[in-house]
Amino acid sequence: MRMTDLIVKKRDGESLSKKEIRFIIKGYVQGDIPDYQMSAWAMAVYFRGMSLEETAELTLAMANSGDQLDLSTIGGRFVDKHSTGGVGDKATLLIGPMVAACGVPVAKMSGRGLGHTGGTIDKLSSIPGFRVELTQEEFLTQVKKIGLSVIAQTGNLVPADKKLYALRDVTGTVSSIPLIASSVMSKKIAAGAQGIVLDVKYGSGAFMKTVEDARILARTMVDIGKALGRQTIAVLSNMNQPLGRAVGNSLEVLEVADALQGKGPDDLMKVCLELGAWMLVAGDSVPNVGAGKKCLLHSIESGAAWNKFLAFITEQGGDAQAVIDRSLKVTPWNLPILAHQSGYVQPFDAQKVGILAMTLGAGRTTKDSPIDLGTGVLLVKKAGEWVEAGEPLLQLYGSDKEKLAEGLLLAKDLVSVGNEAPELPSLIEEVIQ
Ligand code: URA
Repeated sequence: MRMTDLIVKKRDGESLSKKEIRFIIKGYVQGDIPDYQMSAWAMAVYFRGMSLEETAELTLAMANSGDQLDLSTIGGRFVDKHSTGGVGDKATLLIGPMVAACGVPVAKMSGRGLGHTGGTIDKLSSIPGFRVELTQEEFLTQVKKIGLSVIAQTGNLVPADKKLYALRDVTGTVSSIPLIASSVMSKKIAAGAQGIVLDVKYGSGAFMKTVEDARILARTMVDIGKALGRQTIAVLSNMNQPLGRAVGNSLEVLEVADALQGKGPDDLMKVCLELGAWMLVAGDSVPNVGAGKKCLLHSIESGAAWNKFLAFITEQGGDAQAVIDRSLKVTPWNLPILAHQSGYVQPFDAQKVGILAMTLGAGRTTKDSPIDLGTGVLLVKKAGEWVEAGEPLLQLYGSDKEKLAEGLLLAKDLVSVGNEAPELPSLIEEVIQ
């Protein structure tokens, strides 16, 4: 078999056989297929797409490309969650402690941020001492002890995705439905999930810009899950506005601390309650979503979720007191953007907010570039809220004077205030099972 022939086959819109897909993934991971051929193939997939059978085979080939986790020693039904990526999306940090407090164990591997979207592992790294890398044994022991651990993807779990995702990021091939579906589902399958809850985002801050594309992506992932014997539930959620008020790593952890103590912004809470409730349903812990939401709300009111979060930080070597005292590192280089007139705040463009946070220092421009965990954007006012002239709309946190000045230029075009309250679309569009 020759890679050149398989690129041409896909370029011409033909389907690839199971054997051919396995050949491509194996060859790429082993280094026999170079990046330039893989890039051409990914672009052919981007334009020509893949059938469900091809996408399921690609998922399996990727899941089998490295180690697989055995979570059977944890006991019970193991449920995992994944977001397709957004701006201000700190949902895992809230859902993890809430779901664990309701009795369903959360053993989660998460990613770092890339492009304008944030990553859970960067957010956790803003807690002093927090270890995002644990051995498999430490990871499982912690889940058995407190029901919750979140770590970076271990060394050899789905190496095919690690390589291919980095390549897609720099070759304009991220927003492809079969490539996203296989990337997400291969990681969940290799991580041992029996139940999978997906947050499939659409809108300006998401990889899928339209709800129609997000629906096809969600349906594809649910069908792959079904074909591979894993119960999969997809929640379609709107990412035209950033989730919550904080965008940037330390800032988001502080917002999570507020939310776990009952002071969370409505949009963030709504998405977390929906996703968390489906995790409880998939974990066979509650009979329906309504009962799941009740349990999650109680975990906040009783303080159980907050205590679980603190125990989780402590177990992974982090300084829980720094979170309680709100003394995480936040840059002193900060500035407000003030409203020029009184009125209703008009919708933000979530992608632009993500790019602004990145520019201020909170995101990576390339896979390996450093980030400043204490930077980002605080949306003091969100779309639809009333602001008085002279009040702050945004607060910018830049890693230095230059970054702050660059951010200032971008922020000026970002917000507008009008006389009419904008109509905001519903946050949860649909649940696909
Ligand atoms: N999230 C993933 O894990 N993979 C993608 O391809 C896109 C979002």
